[in-house]
Amino acid sequence: MLLKLGGVSTVVVSSRETAKQVLREHDLHCCSRPRVKGARKLSYNYRDIAFSRYDDYWKELRKLCIRELFSPKRVQSIQPIKEMEMKKLIASITESAFEKTPVNLSDTFLSLNANVICKASFGVSFQGTVLNNEKFQDLVHQTLELLGRFSASEFFPYIGWIFDWFKGLHARRDKCARDLDAFYEQMIDLHLQKNREARSEDDFVDLLLRLEKEEAVLGYGKLTRDHIKGILMGGINTSAITMAWAMAELARNPRVMKKVQSEIRNLIGKNNKARTISLDETDQLNYLKMVIKETWRLHPVSPLLVPREVISEFKINGYTIQPKTRLHVNVWAIGRDPEEFIPERFMDCDTDVKGQHFELLPFGSGRRICPAVYMGTASVQFVLANLLYQFDWKLPEGVEVEDIDMDETAGLTTHKKHDLILVPVKSLDL
Ligand code: HEM
Repeated sequence: MLLKLGGVSTVVVSSRETAKQVLREHDLHCCSRPRVKGARKLSYNYRDIAFSRYDDYWKELRKLCIRELFSPKRVQSIQPIKEMEMKKLIASITESAFEKTPVNLSDTFLSLNANVICKASFGVSFQGTVLNNEKFQDLVHQTLELLGRFSASEFFPYIGWIFDWFKGLHARRDKCARDLDAFYEQMIDLHLQKNREARSEDDFVDLLLRLEKEEAVLGYGKLTRDHIKGILMGGINTSAITMAWAMAELARNPRVMKKVQSEIRNLIGKNNKARTISLDETDQLNYLKMVIKETWRLHPVSPLLVPREVISEFKINGYTIQPKTRLHVNVWAIGRDPEEFIPERFMDCDTDVKGQHFELLPFGSGRRICPAVYMGTASVQFVLANLLYQFDWKLPEGVEVEDIDMDETAGLTTHKKHDLILVPVKSLDL
């Protein structure tokens, strides 16, 4: 589908076959990101990094991130932080279970993730900064909504800018940018103040700050604090969104909930409540993995992926796609048929999420695929496995399965519009 949005031609690819042609055969022709004029003020966070041109600098930076930040070794090294945060979470949910009070899982997942990312990156908790829990969540939601939002100035120079100004979009963007910047700066400062000796190995930010100093490392340009902020922004809510969708689907499908809990409890056995489930153990949970894939099929975090920009002309299905065309892959539409949540469809099939199977592209594909596929998958598996092992999950009083709404928000990422609220019950099977 070709849309003419003001002066910008936008192609939307909505079938598996065309996605394969674009992302595999023509990847090199379209792996740049558009630089969005109206979003200058927000450009430092996601856009400077994720929306940068496809140049040698970005290639080097990506390689480095995959090797140093998102490798299985790095994921293992932050596992103790995850375990500690998970234990705290289990203790707090246990209290709610005793008191029979509902838990807001959407908020819970976002704080858990933010805590892990902040501790793994900066060595400190975000709770001691300018933002409290609630403000932080609000800021992340607003930023992602603003990044994915239609902005008239992107497509209609001058008139569009006035239109956006009239709607208060510039002011909202400025405020978001200032708040995020203050937050990140404070986190980096707190990190620098911490006694270096107390930490056994470099964390994310140690590494990135070192590179910031060593201007020559990348050879093509300087790594700035803005890049550091951009890389971290990618990880804060993506896994949390998936966890909330997965739990919502499980609450709507009691058969699947029971089956996945049996798998986890059979593997881990009884009397292991005091410890968390390890990464190696979660890796053996095949049905849980199918549940997560099915969640990504129906609820991809980034429904249109992150926009690409065509670098050089290519032909697809007889049409010529011109340079500067904006390109979206509608993974939401590709995954929507059939609509029933049945994880068994992934049984005995080799479909994975690494960008080679074009019917399931939660992390994208090609040169722009998410660099944190392993890290993202491992963290979703770890959190879900532990919460499903420890607790049974019931709907709040008076709520029926049919009442669980699955409305989505619009934005660069798509999360559940209304928070997911469930009641934890200490499992009698353990
Ligand atoms: C469940 C977890 C995650 C999901 C579903 C996810 C999904 C995605 C998607 C769909 C893209 C765009 C791919 C494309 O345009 O083809 C992307 C890009 C990106 N993601 Fe993730 N992501 C996750 C976790 C993370 C984490 C934990 C980080 C970092 C801490 C991260 C950092 C990035 C970055 C830096 C990019 C830009 C890559 C580029 O433009 O070359 N992501 N992610």
